[in-house]
Amino acid sequence: MRLRRVLAVIGVVVLLLCTVCAGAGVWIWNAQVISTADEVDFTRPLAVPPLAPSRMEAGRRVFDLKAQAGQHDFGRGATPTWGFNGDFLGPTLRATRGEQVVVNVTNALDQTTTVHWHGMHLPAAADGGPHQLVGSGRTWSPTWLVDQPAATLWYHPHLHGETAGHVYRGLAGLFLVDDPATSVDALPHEYGVDDIPLIVQDKKFESGGKLDDSSSFLGGVGVLGDTIAVNGTVGPYLDVTTERVRLRLLNGSNARSYDFGFADDRRFALVATDGGLLASAYDTDRIMLSPGERAEIVVTVKAGERAVLRSYPQDLGTGPFGRFTGGADTLDVLQLRAAGTLAPRPAVPQQLVEVPRLDRKDAVQERPFKMSGHAINGKQMDMTRVDAAPERGSVEIWKVVNNDGTPHNFHIHDVQFQVLTVDGDAPPPQLSGWKDTVYLPANVPYELIMRFSDYEDADTPYMFHCHVLYHEDSGMMGQFVVVPPGGKPGVIDHASHLAHGGRH
Ligand code: C2O
Ligand code: CU
Ligand code: CU
Repeated sequence: MRLRRVLAVIGVVVLLLCTVCAGAGVWIWNAQVISTADEVDFTRPLAVPPLAPSRMEAGRRVFDLKAQAGQHDFGRGATPTWGFNGDFLGPTLRATRGEQVVVNVTNALDQTTTVHWHGMHLPAAADGGPHQLVGSGRTWSPTWLVDQPAATLWYHPHLHGETAGHVYRGLAGLFLVDDPATSVDALPHEYGVDDIPLIVQDKKFESGGKLDDSSSFLGGVGVLGDTIAVNGTVGPYLDVTTERVRLRLLNGSNARSYDFGFADDRRFALVATDGGLLASAYDTDRIMLSPGERAEIVVTVKAGERAVLRSYPQDLGTGPFGRFTGGADTLDVLQLRAAGTLAPRPAVPQQLVEVPRLDRKDAVQERPFKMSGHAINGKQMDMTRVDAAPERGSVEIWKVVNNDGTPHNFHIHDVQFQVLTVDGDAPPPQLSGWKDTVYLPANVPYELIMRFSDYEDADTPYMFHCHVLYHEDSGMMGQFVVVPPGGKPGVIDHASHLAHGGRH
């Protein structure tokens, strides 16, 4: 009798525990999904970053950027932030191919930072990576010749181990490259009128309105926010006055990927990716962007209507746990408010520009890059190690694969590459143009092809890395130097860079 009673009690206790555990499991599973679909009040006009003023000095176009602390209104009172020439984010730099530019980067913060020109083809010493420190109170003035197709590039800090925090607090901006030979006049191109930059970022707040940069539970990718800010505006709307509008989308988030589309599933034309216009416009209803990637889309609106840009749930290619890294979220991003009468704009031409294909048979080197466990090829970032030394002028194929069950992407400094194959096949249309960052679903091999033209410097490295900033900061980064034909890498001396805290 007693034994039976004891067993019964144990049975009940076990049953109860199982129920609680299962309940907790279900709760955790469901709590990982955010949806703001139809729940965002679009009450604030979208801020458009101003074009940075510039001046010509001795034949060079000169910009000034100052990193500074400030406060920004995300609708939660005054949130402490960082920005360039302002409180949050920075102005849009704009230069034309063939111009020599100078950017005077002044650091008015109380700590060291750097400013990297993401997507730009330029000398390694001007790249603004973790070796080009700008100490507090210092000014760094890199100069380079703008020489690449028209594109939407961007700039952000790259201090080793601190990039996530610096970007999250607000240090980022766009750099538009103009080039008449690789643009299409029929596309909307009036900045702030029918050509609108959208820096999309997810933010999280503490109860007092401070930015919450804590890593998300279970995800392993760093900070994932539940609030979308576009150019720093939460709940933004854009008054559209033209029949067609070009949106230059930048995923400026630390960890979150977006699958952009419209709430009514309308189609749009994808016209450009990271490094410039596509060969032909791609008619689609979704474009996925992982951190650091850009896309330019042209959307058609009808007079008087409202359309909502939304990020849809997406398959991150990392299995059912993609929901822990934001893959199951639905987030309303921006409302387009079309005016009662719209100025006409030409249809998007089918053929855009020539994108000369890099050819496999021109490649002189293949290199594997296996991404797993906050390391690349099993190695964590080492500021003094050179991982690859391509020769100036050479074409290489980089074989990149994500061997984790975690989202990673791959970004290479200095070059724009082409995706040669995805799992052995030709790339889809959205990966058919110039890219500098590409998303990597787990266990799918990508072959990237690129030419390391110009700018040999055996002693100053460029970076390649996962652009999930927490991963980058944790060591998922490596270095390459471009050497003269037949040359060898030099010695990377980071100690001396640290000693002078950036240069004047
Ligand atoms: Cu967007 Cu290494 O950078
Ligand atoms: Cu970069
Ligand atoms: Cu990663």
